[in-house]
Amino acid sequence: MSAGDANSQRGAEAAISIRAANLNDLPAILALEKTAPGAAHWSASHYKSRVESQPNAACFQVAERVGGEGAIQICGFLCARIVAGEWEIENVVVAQKLRRHGVGAQLMRSLIERWEDSAGTALMLEARESNAAARALYEQHGMREVGRRRDYYRAPVEDAILYILRRAE
Ligand SMILES: CC(C)(COP(=O)(O)OP(=O)(O)OC[C@H]1O[C@@H](n2cnc3c(N)ncnc32)[C@H](O)[C@@H]1OP(=O)(O)O)[C@@H](O)C(=O)NCCC(=O)NCCS
Repeated sequence: MSAGDANSQRGAEAAISIRAANLNDLPAILALEKTAPGAAHWSASHYKSRVESQPNAACFQVAERVGGEGAIQICGFLCARIVAGEWEIENVVVAQKLRRHGVGAQLMRSLIERWEDSAGTALMLEARESNAAARALYEQHGMREVGRRRDYYRAPVEDAILYILRRAE
C-alpha cells in the first residue's frame, strides 16, 4: 500500500462512527443484509428482538458515516446475542462499496471491547468455509478455529467453521 492509499484508508476509518442499533435503523439494516448473499439472513422480527434485548442479552451495533449530501448513512452492522455469558456473533455486514476500508474491523473492535468489559466468558461464531473475507476478519481479531459443522449451511450446502475467543485466564 502506498502512503497515499494508507492515508485515504485512515481517512475513511476516521469518518466512521459506531453506536448501538435502535429500531429506526432496522430498514437500513435489512436493506444492507439483502446486498450480502454470503451473510446470515434473519427476519425483521429477529433483529427487532435483538435491538430490544440490549444490553444484557444482545450487542447490536451499527457503523455510520456522513454520505454524499450530508445525510448520515448506515454502512455496516454487527449483531451478537448473549446467552449465559456466552456471546455469539450472528451477523456482520459492511456495505459493498466501503469494504476493505476498516469498517468491519471497527465493528469487531467495538464488540470485543464490550465483551471484555462484560462478564462474558466466550465469544463465538460460525462462518461459511468459503467466506475468506469474514474468516480473515475474525482471525485478525484473535478468534481461533475450533471445529467444523458438516453441511451446516443450505443454498449452497457448505460446512460451517466454528471460531471462539476465550477470556484470558
Ligand atoms: C466480512 C466483512 C464484514 C468484512 O468487512 P470489511 O469492512 O471489508 O473488513 P475490513 O476492511 O475491516 O478488513 C479487516 C480485515 O478483514 C480481512 N478481510 C476483509 N476483507 C477481506 C477480503 N476480501 N479478503 C481477505 N481478507 C479480508 C483482512 O484481514 C482485513 O485486514 P487488512 O485490510 O488489514 O488486510 C465484509 O466483507 C462483508 O460485509 N461481507 C459480506 C457479509 C458476510 O459475509 N458476513 C460474514 C457473515 S459470517
